[in-house]
Amino acid sequence: MKLIIINGPNLNLLGKREPEIYGSTTFEEFFRKLQLKFKNVELAYYQSNIEGELIDKLHEVGFNYDGIILNAAAYTHTSVSIGDAIKSIETPVVELHISNIHAREEFRHQSFIAPNAKGVIFGFGLKGYELAVQSFL
Ligand code: DQA
Repeated sequence: MKLIIINGPNLNLLGKREPEIYGSTTFEEFFRKLQLKFKNVELAYYQSNIEGELIDKLHEVGFNYDGIILNAAAYTHTSVSIGDAIKSIETPVVELHISNIHAREEFRHQSFIAPNAKGVIFGFGLKGYELAVQSFL
């Protein structure tokens, strides 16, 4: 089983960024633990702050991975192109958010990813990534 976690803009600052919302663990630290937890899964991780780079990565992995866990961050709410990229690839995508986007500002309730996602996980903190991996097993 080959899965990839793709994180979008500002998620490179996890651990430092608004810790009251996103927690105080860095993603690198969390990712190492996740890999140890799922030793039988080939788990990759990619992060970019740039919309086009996220789309390029979706194209690259979207025909040869078994699953994509995508936290497109703010692009979730704005990016028609990331939504289209998900429509264009074969690998199923789980949309993920660390925070409960429906308990936050109205603009975060809109998603261009959800209509074409296999499922959506939000509001469980970093634990959501673990739930997303399990959803593919
Ligand atoms: C987020 C929620 C988004 O609304 C926000 O723009 C993010 C992170 C989350 O993981 O909770 O950057 O995707």
